[in-house]
Amino acid sequence: MESYRSLTAFSLVLLLARGSTATTVEERSPEFWRSQAQQTLQAALDLTPNTNVAKNTVLFLGDGMGITTYTAARILKGQLQNQSGEETVMTMDTFPYVGLAKTYSVDFQIPDSAATATAYLCGVKSNLNTIGVSAAARNGVCRSQKGNEVTSILKWAKDAGKAVGIVTTTRVQHATPAATYAHSASRKWYSDADLPASARSANCTDIASQLLSNTDIDVIIGGGRKYMTPRGTRDPEYPRDYSSRGRRKDGRHLIQEWQSMKADKVAHYVWNKTDFDAVDPETTDYLMALFEPGDMHFDVERDPRMDPSIVETTEKAIRILSKNPKGFFLLVEGGRIDQAHHAGRGSMALHEAVALDRAVAKALELTNEEETLTVVTADHSHPLVINGYPFRGNSILGKSPLWAEDILPFTTLMYGNGPGHKMVGGKRPDIRKVDTKTRGYVQLAAVPLKSATHGGEDVVILARGPMAHLLQGVHEQSYIPHAMAYAACVGADRRHCAARPAVAAAQSYEHTNIHG
Ligand SMILES: *[C@@H]1O[C@H](CO)[C@@H](O)[C@H](O)[C@H]1NC(C)=O
Ligand SMILES: *[C@@H]1O[C@H](CO)[C@@H](O)[C@H](O)[C@H]1NC(C)=O
Ligand SMILES: *[C@@H]1O[C@H](CO)[C@@H](O)[C@H](O)[C@H]1NC(C)=O
Ligand SMILES: [Zn+2]
Repeated sequence: MESYRSLTAFSLVLLLARGSTATTVEERSPEFWRSQAQQTLQAALDLTPNTNVAKNTVLFLGDGMGITTYTAARILKGQLQNQSGEETVMTMDTFPYVGLAKTYSVDFQIPDSAATATAYLCGVKSNLNTIGVSAAARNGVCRSQKGNEVTSILKWAKDAGKAVGIVTTTRVQHATPAATYAHSASRKWYSDADLPASARSANCTDIASQLLSNTDIDVIIGGGRKYMTPRGTRDPEYPRDYSSRGRRKDGRHLIQEWQSMKADKVAHYVWNKTDFDAVDPETTDYLMALFEPGDMHFDVERDPRMDPSIVETTEKAIRILSKNPKGFFLLVEGGRIDQAHHAGRGSMALHEAVALDRAVAKALELTNEEETLTVVTADHSHPLVINGYPFRGNSILGKSPLWAEDILPFTTLMYGNGPGHKMVGGKRPDIRKVDTKTRGYVQLAAVPLKSATHGGEDVVILARGPMAHLLQGVHEQSYIPHAMAYAACVGADRRHCAARPAVAAAQSYEHTNIHG
């Protein structure tokens, strides 16, 4: 009761007026918790490390999916199914091995998605805004990039004969996917038009062009058409929209170039759901799917007739890549959790995280734990808090029954900084009559900023499958690809190659699963 001392008399009355109604009858029995704990204990006792070689590796990256986002998304997922929510088990919650990653970059205490992607994909910490280069390269300085390139686990996997893919909800040239294939002193060099004159004269190339010139990627799915086509090229979906038109000053049409590069293979370029659905994974060698000129839509704002969900794109990628007898490496990014948080839109961020969890479930359905290492992590956090004393089952997007010293309510989700900072006549806005559960609602922020910053606490690493136990503990984020590469027997450290491959029974299980 200690904490209740700080409540105002007014809010205490409110608290007492409502009992906890959402708790189930069985939760009142100590036996409920004891037997649940016994089951959990037995599962922990039965857990033995899987020391197979990982034939396949799937890395799910929730951009900006800090631990508060993770918890809040779990509650939302349950509440979308009319559960109380707190007790809901997300698919990612079922992963047996859990660790934490320290996310700072070489130059900043709180990092960005470019430096972190270089860490968890290339295994090297670097400077803010830089992609696929070591910390010897400086942000935006092309000359400092030369000789300091570092390669990613996607390349290591390709070099080992595996199929490789990237799936994102952002543009495919965005920081996270870019770090799998590009080297750029600036994450902003999406197309050649974005290169400053100094970078062009020092022969740096844009990220979009590196999609074709570096690692040969079997599956590329996301947004980002406008960086691929000559300046002024009309977008097929938004022909009248100027901001959607092609950006390139060098006149290159990278989509057509990609198609001619793959002319002797079964390679499909698609930009809409109809054509995407028609792609037969059984006969397809290469897929490039770019559904938007820039980033894709938020999942709840997506037109399901035009754009597939992250569940559908993940499934298509796995079905194409899993044909390779040597296995595959796939990066799946839920990239817009971060963008919703920057806008202070808690609801949208949580819905994006729930969508990512559904994609994780689909991947587990299509693969076999005996031979597939699946990792879920985030690049960095956001200054989101879950606060107040909301009752059990209270909407995670709702208000706390506890009112503040200013006799005004507040929402459970709030931000340390961002666009939601408002003062009306020296007071916080009165949200008593405001529906805080709408998609567009911007949660209160302590400090005004047009775009919320990132957060600096550790992010979670969840792992299952071969050598997943290597990811337990508190580690530098740059450790992650080294552990995954060891498990998959790709990259420089091949000590694990002599270990037994996944058992034959597992392979036939997967065969039925994938093709059945
Ligand atoms: C949750 O309850 C609402 C209102 O009763 C209902 O319309 C909706 O279909 C339910 N959703 C689920 C997933 O059960
Ligand atoms: C850029 O490339 C051109 C053509 O290959 C070469 O002549 C020039 O020396 C290069 N410049 C730098 C700064 O490397
Ligand atoms: C999808 O793309 C194809 C190829 O450009 C086009 O023929 C078709 O009309 C598009 N479908 C829709 C619904 O826009
Ligand atoms: Zn961000």
